[in-house]
Amino acid sequence: MRTSNHLIGLLNFLTFVLSIPILAGGIWLSSKANSTECLRFLQWPLIIIGVAIMVVSLAGFAGACYRNTFLMWLYLFVMFFVIVALIVFIVFAYAVTDKGSGRTVPSRVYLDYYLQDYSGWLKDRVAEESYWEKISSCVRDSKVCKKMGRIVGGVPESVEMFNLRKLSPIESGCCKPPSDCGFSYQNETVWTGVEGMVLFNSDCTNWNNDQSELCYNCDSCKAGVLASLKRSWRKVSVINIVVLIILVIAYVIGIAAFRNNRRIDNEEASGEARMEKARPSWIHS
Ligand SMILES: *[C@@H]1O[C@H](CO)[C@@H](O)[C@H](O)[C@H]1NC(C)=O
Repeated sequence: MRTSNHLIGLLNFLTFVLSIPILAGGIWLSSKANSTECLRFLQWPLIIIGVAIMVVSLAGFAGACYRNTFLMWLYLFVMFFVIVALIVFIVFAYAVTDKGSGRTVPSRVYLDYYLQDYSGWLKDRVAEESYWEKISSCVRDSKVCKKMGRIVGGVPESVEMFNLRKLSPIESGCCKPPSDCGFSYQNETVWTGVEGMVLFNSDCTNWNNDQSELCYNCDSCKAGVLASLKRSWRKVSVINIVVLIILVIAYVIGIAAFRNNRRIDNEEASGEARMEKARPSWIHS
């Protein structure tokens, strides 16, 4: 075996190892309860790319070990599309999670979330009536709001303590009314308004102390889901970018090594041909 074959084998092994964090990222996204679980379709591209890299690397590895040119060609061919898919996926992930973040609220540590701060394709999907029904029932089933409750000395934590909490976007958007409603705190998920109050935010009327309603139909909940998605997608994108860079380097080296192999093959072939031609004249001389 040639050195370049060892190199290709090594590179394939490396890309094989690289497919593991991508797969892990996809599985992490799908296992994360209460946010992305409710938007299942989003982690599939990642899992497919991870599996593709894994399979293709194995093919390349076998191709390099057994000097199988077909497998090597297949590897280089398919890996090209995997790299393109990964680039598309990274660009897509950034594009759909481009805009929007939580708003700070005076004397609160947690942020409030407003749907009008978000825009684009993902927002339209999440806000779509039929789609939101599925997502919100998923958030409800995840019991994230119930898990938010803290008991201190037999009673719910005080409002002062609650104001100092760092809430996840889902907890803030879906489990409590927006702060600008001015409701008064009873516990994390029970808030009372004052009769005849003027409300500027439509979410305030959507709020319901019924523990199966809460703010699940609020725009703030949709914004919370979007913010939560953005966070986890950004994390996964960091892994993807690192993997992409290593993959491209491995690919370029792989092509160089493959061409080098072919050049040596060709030279040997033409060298043998030359010797074959030359032989009769040696015999005669
Ligand atoms: C708040 O109180 C209500 C009614 O007592 C209760 O059903 C709910 O579980 C409490 N919320 C939390 C988060 O503990």
